[in-house]
Amino acid sequence: MGQALSTTELNTVFNESNMLKQELLDGLISDNKYINPKFFYDEYGSQLFEKIMQLPEYYPTRTEISLLENNKHAIAKSIGEDTVLIEPGAGNCQKVQSILPALKPSCYIPIDISAEFLFECANKLKEKFPYIDIHAIADDMKEKVSIPEQFKDNDRVIFYPGSTIGNYNPTEALEFLKHANEMAGKEGGLLIGVDLQKDKDILDAAYNDEQGITALFNLNVINHVNKLLDSEIDVDLFKHVAFYNEEHCRIEMHLESKSDHDYMIENNEKISFSESERIHTEYSYKYTIESFSGLAKQAGLKLKDFWLDDNELFSVQYYVAA
Ligand SMILES: C[S@@+](CC[C@H](N)C(=O)[O-])C[C@H]1O[C@@H](n2cnc3c(N)ncnc32)[C@H](O)[C@@H]1O
Repeated sequence: MGQALSTTELNTVFNESNMLKQELLDGLISDNKYINPKFFYDEYGSQLFEKIMQLPEYYPTRTEISLLENNKHAIAKSIGEDTVLIEPGAGNCQKVQSILPALKPSCYIPIDISAEFLFECANKLKEKFPYIDIHAIADDMKEKVSIPEQFKDNDRVIFYPGSTIGNYNPTEALEFLKHANEMAGKEGGLLIGVDLQKDKDILDAAYNDEQGITALFNLNVINHVNKLLDSEIDVDLFKHVAFYNEEHCRIEMHLESKSDHDYMIENNEKISFSESERIHTEYSYKYTIESFSGLAKQAGLKLKDFWLDDNELFSVQYYVAA
């Protein structure tokens, strides 16, 4: 049996869930409909993302993992010893395992909003790396991270793989980079995976796999919305749309309505979809080393090292305070 929550804790949970509902509603009643990509990750969404990472067309995960594996000693040398390694949006904590044996941080702090999945993965990691202090935090990555007292004076390194930075538009990416710089402090750093600009066919295929797993992942966000809003939006009335927008250097994912349909939800709020109308669900911006380091420079970060695969599909970059 879980411990009963205090009134303050219950109020916090209540307020947070109301804020999430409001955020969803704002997106669904807006003229240009959108759903924040963080809503992809209910339990099924996290499982589908696991499958996406194994797909033959989806090059980013395997390319990034081999980059981390092949360069772990160089990465460890660049970062230094006895760090506190903080991973916002850690997911299955898979990629960090490529660098942990060489880096040997004093403490690893994975943060994720998908609590159950995070704790399950962190517990497995504790068995594999008993010599590293692992403190999983189930929270929004934008919240302040509390570092265990005994590691307060260690250098902090933010690990942000998966080209998750690409999900932000350049203004939001800059904001994240400033936040990361602040979290890391003067002596710390940021180790980040950044997907690179490349041939449109490779990009289009990566987000339109033959097995249709990315389509399932995109569509599942409607099921998650229904759970959160207690609504009955018909997922079968949408189709998955994904393409590379060369002008803005970004993959765009949308859910396109196949017909007109509307729903009454809480507080007599009405959500309407018309035929061919799209809900924007994700952007994935692609960079060059120059364009990304230019952005990082505006956030007060200086590129110290970077690593590329032979085909220059993906990059792992290490930044320190400028
Ligand atoms: C695309 S996965 C990336 C996982 C991992 N970093 C990787 O590269 O393999 C994104 C993860 O970020 C988490 N996430 C999304 N938005 C978040 C937020 N605002 N705060 C904390 N975690 C978040 C999701 O639950 C998911 O596990």
